[in-house]
Amino acid sequence: MEQKNVIIVAPSLLSANFAYLADELAKVKLSGASWIHLDVMDGHFVPNLTFGPPIIQALRKHSDLFFDVHLMVERPEELLDSYLAAGADAITFHWEATVHHHRLIQRIHEAGKLAGITLVPSTPVSSLSALLPYVDLVLVMGINPGFGGQKYLTETSGRLAELARVRQEGGWNFRISIDGGVNTITAVEIVASGADILVTGSAFFDAPDQAGYLRQLKSLRR
Ligand code: DX5
Ligand code: ZN
Repeated sequence: MEQKNVIIVAPSLLSANFAYLADELAKVKLSGASWIHLDVMDGHFVPNLTFGPPIIQALRKHSDLFFDVHLMVERPEELLDSYLAAGADAITFHWEATVHHHRLIQRIHEAGKLAGITLVPSTPVSSLSALLPYVDLVLVMGINPGFGGQKYLTETSGRLAELARVRQEGGWNFRISIDGGVNTITAVEIVASGADILVTGSAFFDAPDQAGYLRQLKSLRR
């Protein structure tokens, strides 16, 4: 992964044109991004459906971007091996979607991948405390997951700051990622609150100058 104090921007493929996914990935690469965020939705955990292991596997052959897979699925343990085999570099699952968090983290690490945990806006940050020593990243949702293009919930900044404080106090190493409602305006407060990884869907794909948009986000921390 990039140096600790550097902002990572992970464009989210959810806002891309699904008829041309390989071309869209190439566009992301051209913008200067090194990560791509892949939103897997099962129509149960969230009221929307996207794609699963076969599409991730197909995309893997077209891209050397870091595949940051966000599982918005119930019982993520069931298909975990397929996501790992499909070429995910990091797998993040929802705290609310399973009971056996440590076991999942362990399985992801055994496969040599990064493990992330995420939580919906109504789940207290303190719910994660037993997992913080083990995860590589914590993804904080700035919206209720399921759709791109939603408005950033401003109370999320307090949650980011709380997590940054807990990390500092515990001496943990995980990166703090934010997903939902990121744009050039919200990102100022988001970065100031402690986020290291910015997932961005609609604002990235709507930007007339994607490379410039990326540079603007990255320049928020020097
Ligand atoms: C939504 C997804 C997000 C989504 C963010 O549930 O997890 O990754 O793409 O989209 P924007 O950046 O448009 O809020
Ligand atoms: Zn996501």
